[in-house]
Amino acid sequence: MTMAYLSIVGLKKSFRKHEVLRNINLQVEKGEFVCFLGASGCGKTTLLRIIAGLERMDEGDIVVDGRNISRLRPSKRNLSMVFQSYALFPNMTAFQNVEYGLRKKIKDKEKRKELVELMLALVGLSDVRKKYPDQLSGGQQQRVSLARALVIEPDLLLLDEPLSALDPKVRESLRGEIKATHDKLRITTIMVTHDQEEAITMGDKLAVMNEGEIVQFGTPIEVYRAPRDYFVADFVGKINFLTDKKNVTWMIRPEDVECYTEPREGTLAGTIANIEFRGPFYRLTVALSRHTILIDLFSKDIEKRAFKLHDPIHVRLHRAEGLG
Ligand SMILES: Nc1ncnc2c1ncn2[C@@H]1O[C@H](COP(=O)(O)OP(=O)(O)OP(=O)(O)O)[C@@H](O)[C@H]1O
Ligand SMILES: [Mg+2]
Repeated sequence: MTMAYLSIVGLKKSFRKHEVLRNINLQVEKGEFVCFLGASGCGKTTLLRIIAGLERMDEGDIVVDGRNISRLRPSKRNLSMVFQSYALFPNMTAFQNVEYGLRKKIKDKEKRKELVELMLALVGLSDVRKKYPDQLSGGQQQRVSLARALVIEPDLLLLDEPLSALDPKVRESLRGEIKATHDKLRITTIMVTHDQEEAITMGDKLAVMNEGEIVQFGTPIEVYRAPRDYFVADFVGKINFLTDKKNVTWMIRPEDVECYTEPREGTLAGTIANIEFRGPFYRLTVALSRHTILIDLFSKDIEKRAFKLHDPIHVRLHRAEGLG
């Protein structure tokens, strides 16, 4: 068996008696963009900090490109980390902030300048290279952080909720920029987030975490379409749980329901208990005989068919692949 680029084996961590990482095993391929996704307190930041060497683990090994880095100091690991807060040097310009990490690595000043300029251009900051952090917007500051992290050509880029302090518009555009930058440089990246939409749109793979464990590792489509357990199903996207008469639980995504005004073969009858406008789609709450379910319908469809509150409705359910 060939070893993955990043390999984490049997990692455990407790703070005093509190076990925060139980038994972490993870294999990441070179160039992959992996998102750690999970609720607050599940151990995402702790795991990232352990990889970076900022926190000690109790047991386990971390191997990057065949090199066991488990016991190396952070500065010897050749990794970069970007935090939620921008953590820039306030007394340095954007250019100087990016240049800072290169000082030890590259002595030739011209060569250094060239690399910094290249990186600033890549993240779209050439125009503001002479500005200080307090003269930059949040989004620009985070791009400086990113450029500073990337310019040293790290073996691994570690991002801890890098977008969560930004407003939604900036956040969305930066998502795209981070991905585009990753596509160009192909630096193996791990990004922590508790935002499932962010994880789904950005990650090549998701590691869904719950209470100190990775409960599922796979592509966003695998995780969404074939969740391994109820926790994953419920955490990534909306899902309906229905138990049939034999006590088997079905999972049905709100978008996997066909709706009709008249009964058809295999449909169940219900009543529309609530209609919520969400912009591109409507979310209907439908009362069936034994369950209440959520259904998402494209706005165009529902407006065309004029479903109204308290109307009867006939639904055909398509279960998700995962359990049940
Ligand atoms: N230095 C510490 N000392 C004691 N307990 C800690 C320490 N750091 C983290 N913890 C605990 O470890 C658990 C995991 O914390 P961690 O910060 O890794 O969670 P997280 O998934 O990053 O959460 P969030 O989404 O809120 O950032 C939490 O219960 C937290 O209280
Ligand atoms: Mg955290």
